[in-house]
Parts: sequence; structure tokens; C-alpha cells
Amino acid sequence: MTPFASRPSADGLWTDLRDIDGAPLALAVADGVLRWAGPPGAVPAGWADARVHDGGGALVTPGLVDCHTHLVYGGRRANEFAMRLAGASYEEVAKAGGGIVASVRATREASEDELFASASARLANLLAEGVCAIEIKSGYGLSLEHERKQLRVARRLAEAHGVTVRATFLGAHALPPEYAGRSGDYIDLVCREMLPALAAEGLVDAVDVFCERIAFSLEETEHVFLSAQALGLPVKLHAEQLSDMGGAALAARYGALSCDHIEHLSQAGVDAMKAAGTVAVLLPGAYYTLRDTQLPPIAALREAGVPMAVSTDHNPGTSPALSLLLMLNMACTLFRLTVPEALDGVTRHAARALGLQGTHGALIVGQSANFVLWDVREAAELAYWFGQRPVRAVVRQGRIAEGEGA
Ligand code: NIG
Ligand code: FE
Repeated sequence: MTPFASRPSADGLWTDLRDIDGAPLALAVADGVLRWAGPPGAVPAGWADARVHDGGGALVTPGLVDCHTHLVYGGRRANEFAMRLAGASYEEVAKAGGGIVASVRATREASEDELFASASARLANLLAEGVCAIEIKSGYGLSLEHERKQLRVARRLAEAHGVTVRATFLGAHALPPEYAGRSGDYIDLVCREMLPALAAEGLVDAVDVFCERIAFSLEETEHVFLSAQALGLPVKLHAEQLSDMGGAALAARYGALSCDHIEHLSQAGVDAMKAAGTVAVLLPGAYYTLRDTQLPPIAALREAGVPMAVSTDHNPGTSPALSLLLMLNMACTLFRLTVPEALDGVTRHAARALGLQGTHGALIVGQSANFVLWDVREAAELAYWFGQRPVRAVVRQGRIAEGEGA
């Protein structure tokens, strides 16, 4: 793997670009930072001698943000795919000893280096599509040692690939087998030992819980949120995926960055999220894989003005998706998002779901240069094609990470 630091610099003037509305655009980058953006005719005189990068008429967007992934895990779960094809539900698979706990076994068995290698290969697919920031959750370790191993891999991936990674502690993802029947004891362990220790090691940027009938209750979720709050860490929630637990309203009370999945979200949940400024993270890959029929309440979210993000939810069980562009297509086709909504969903709203709205998801002057040049005529093509990667170049953290010269 070419070390990221030796990728070519993106410094200079990027010309012959078009913005997502097709209007001519130029960008100026110095020291890896976006210094200016505007119409080509208005480039400040100081850039006259700068190195020119010819955009060749490419459409440019901010670097993509994948705001919900479980990218680091051992093994795979293609056997469950077969079980589900034979008629088993996600809950039935979980009750039969599969599901999250199957990945926990494989993750505990894997070394940190093995987890790094397998996650690196998966990450490469997302990066090649223009992802410049990504969230990676723990939650397949379910013990201090193994959650630490996952989160350390998340930190190493950021360093090795030159990509912004937000590491989310999801110790309350499932009940580990050794705590069967002792859910309260496990939550105590999460709150009293695991979270404080991992936070002290600088491994945690946010805290998540799977609040569901087959996972943790509202009370247990709140217990974890209180611990996160005491440590000054933001929270987010896997909420109302299989049933309406009232998780979104609880998360909103704790100022959650996002509530994710939300197929069964109620109007009260929508209102609470709006009041708290919580982002709705839509995960069409999981909806599709589970052959769900309960659509998230898109019209109500739109009406309330709740920002909607779109993400892969990459995980080995319910969304083995390694293409954020495919999620754009699914968000439009399955959830009926408009193309501009879907594009906002993988850029500025996704950044906000990670608390990164000041640095990612928009072409903001003064921030590290993260943008993608696309070989398309119009923005709708980014959601229209599937199985194609119309990337001309990716500038990530001020370096040409993909495309010409990379
Ligand atoms: O986001 N909903 C819970 N967690 C994951 C599924 C994880 C798994 O099945 O391994 C999700 O869909
Ligand atoms: Fe998830």
C-alpha cells in the first residue's frame, strides 16, 4: 500500500470544474487547505502562478461521508444470508445463535492485525468512491479487551489511509453469551468499566446503543447515555429499527447527534428529533437486505425539517454494502428521496451526524481539502447508475488520493 503521506499534493488551482447545479467552478488549494472557491472568472490574482489541475469539465462535490458503519469485524455471515433466503427472519437468525453474536465469536478470535487487514480491504472500496470521512463502531468485541481491539483498529485505519475516522463505542450492541440472562450486569460493566477505560485511552468519539427488543431496553439505553454524558461524549442510537421503542425521543433528550434506522419512528419521535437538532440516518442497505416493508417516515421527517443522512451501515449481517453510491440509489428508489436530498445525505447531513459539520461535507474555505471529481454530466447520475464508479479523482486531506497522479 502506498503510504498516504506520499500521495501527490492537491495544492494549486483546480479549473474547469462544475458544481452540482452544473455552474462553472474553480477551487484553490494551498498547504492541503481549501483557500478559495468560486466562478473561474473571479479567481483572485494571487493564484496566477499556481500549479493548474485541469478538471476536464468534471462535476465536483464535497468528499463523501459514510456516517454509520460497523467496518471492523472478524469472519463473515453468508450462511445467514442463505438462512434468510430460506425464510428465517433477522430475529430468528439471532435467536438461533447467529446474528451479531456470531460476529462477536469471530472478532474475538481475530488478532488486531487480522482485523486491520480485513477492514483495510473493505475501506478501500469506500475510499475509491470518494469517501473522505467515515464512522466506525465497535460492538463485535463486547468485552473491554476486544472492544479496545476494534477501536484501536479504527484509529489505525485513519492513520494508514489518511481518512477522517470517528470511532463510536457500541459496547451495548448485543448481550455477550457469558452474560446470558444478566443484561443489567453487562450494562453495568459497559458503563462502569468499559466506557470509562476506553474513553481515557482516547479511543472513543461517540457512544451508541442498539435499543431494541432483541438488544437493550430503554432503561438500559439511558444508563449508557448517562455514563457517556458524564464523560462529555456525544451519543447516537440504533433506534426504532424493528419496533417503536421510543428510543429516538430518549436519544433526543440527551442531545443525540443522530438516530439511525428509524423505520418505526413515530411522529412524537420526529418532533423530538427536530427539537434537539438530531440527524435522521437512513440505512437503505439494511432495509433492503432484511426485505423490510416498513418504510422510515420520510414525509414526516421532510415536513418537520429533520436533516436526513444516508449511510451504508456496513456490517456482516444486515448490510454487507461497500458502496455509498449504491446507497444513494437505494435511498432514492426505495425511500423516495430526491437526488438533492440524497446528496445532502452523504455530505453535509452525514457530517453533522458525526459532529463534523465544521470540517466536512461542504466545500468550506479554510478546511482541509476534501472533494471528488466525477465523470458525469449531471448530479442525478450519481444516484442513477448503480455498479458504476464514475470517479475521476478524489482529493482527501489535501492529497490526490485517487485518480490522475495518485
Ligand atoms: O446496524 N441493528 C443492529 N446492528 C447492525 C446489525 C449488526 C449485525 O447483524 O451484525 C445494524 O443493522
Ligand atoms: Fe448499524
